[in-house]
Amino acid sequence: MFVLVPFAFSLLSWSFCVVASNDCQPSTWPNPPEARGIDAATIVAPRMIAARQESEAIQPGDINCRFWDRTYDDANYYSCTKLANKWAIPLAWFFKMNPTLLPDCSNIEPNTLYCVTGFIEPLRSPDGFCGPQHNNAVCAGTDAQCCNSETWTCGNSEEDCADGTCYEGLCAGDKVYSTDGTCGSEHGNRLCAGKWGDCCNRSGQCGTGADFCGESVCQSGNCDWPWLRRTTTVTSSASSTSSSTVSRSSTSTSTSTSTRPLPMPSSSCSDGTGAGGLAGLCSWACSHGFCPDPCTCTPGTPAALPPPTGDRGYALLDLRDEPGFSDLCDFVCSYAADYCPEQVCTKTPYSTVQQPGTVCVQGEGEGGYAGLCSYACHYGYCPSSSCTCTLYGAAIQEPPILGTPGEAAPGVDDSYDDLCNYTCNHGYCPTEVCAYST
Ligand SMILES: *[C@@H]1O[C@H](CO)[C@@H](O)[C@H](O)[C@H]1NC(C)=O
Ligand SMILES: *[C@@H]1O[C@H](CO)[C@@H](O)[C@H](O)[C@H]1NC(C)=O
Repeated sequence: MFVLVPFAFSLLSWSFCVVASNDCQPSTWPNPPEARGIDAATIVAPRMIAARQESEAIQPGDINCRFWDRTYDDANYYSCTKLANKWAIPLAWFFKMNPTLLPDCSNIEPNTLYCVTGFIEPLRSPDGFCGPQHNNAVCAGTDAQCCNSETWTCGNSEEDCADGTCYEGLCAGDKVYSTDGTCGSEHGNRLCAGKWGDCCNRSGQCGTGADFCGESVCQSGNCDWPWLRRTTTVTSSASSTSSSTVSRSSTSTSTSTSTRPLPMPSSSCSDGTGAGGLAGLCSWACSHGFCPDPCTCTPGTPAALPPPTGDRGYALLDLRDEPGFSDLCDFVCSYAADYCPEQVCTKTPYSTVQQPGTVCVQGEGEGGYAGLCSYACHYGYCPSSSCTCTLYGAAIQEPPILGTPGEAAPGVDDSYDDLCNYTCNHGYCPTEVCAYST
């Protein structure tokens, strides 16, 4: 997934080069950094760490840095991790973008700019051919910006740029939408689109209709899942719209296989804050232009949005009604390559029908079972003889086992034994129906 980011950034982030104009020059990797023969006393403005020679054109293999962020006065071995986390980039990628840094980050300098968004300059197609058979030459940045996976030539037509056909370039590309008909968890979580159809079946093949979209065979796309039946197929292509300054001659509308619209940036923020469990979500989302209440926006220019991860995010059950969590989880988990904080968000949707990998997270019971079922079903223990599960989802961490098993209270029918044993053992032992075992 992350491999796509460079190309998307190359199209999206020209306008984000906010440092002094000559800082938008490439650094050549792995050349050594520029000499740092600057009198420490004169350092006022942040310095660019990466080497650059202004006369030199960017060559394939060079680091093409598009955005920098600075360290504070207290830079130390932890600053690399902090910068990587702040920009939601893998640490290894941060080091790759900043080849002068030692692996333990010990030589990071205070008050200095480091590259946080960039890519390794690819081979731009020299002859109009592209793709794996042509040295992985890319069309992005050439006159014809879409690599057509049928002809392996660069083109600009709607067909060339269509999801499902466009291998890379001014499109989401093969990392997101299959260009060979394979899809799903065994094929890089790619989605199906365009000529391949709108559903990925459980064997990882794209297609259309009930054989692929049916409840029992579908793994992603326009699946006919009962809990999604109200929703509609939407038009969106997050990675190829928005702030691109390169315009495509004919705009194609791509039919996304997502079942609800991807959240889109709508705020002019360069950062954001939030209380408690919202802190990390607000920071990432606001700095990428999505800053709903109750986040506090730091006005500024948002960073370029990475391409969709193919996942969606959901607030954990207990947080679903807290303001902000649902929208923020969806935004962050939909776009952040490496950040979908499991303390507050999950990528597993909640549904009234059990799906693979889900357990009961909400249930109810009649009469004396009501409290017991409500308690136990939440943690996946929901015996159908006594309780009815009303919602399934990712397992919720159960409270600690206290080693205090229980049973039906004297005079209460022994169908309560199992539930009482479970709940008393976790600290909930209502005396009307349960008693601790002796
Ligand atoms: C998925 O589609 C392929 C190709 O039509 C088929 O061979 C395979 O059996 C299908 N898998 C399922 C689970 O339906
Ligand atoms: C009660 O629960 C404990 C822990 O889950 C289990 O080991 C034990 O066998 C259970 N007792 C009965 C009577 O089911």
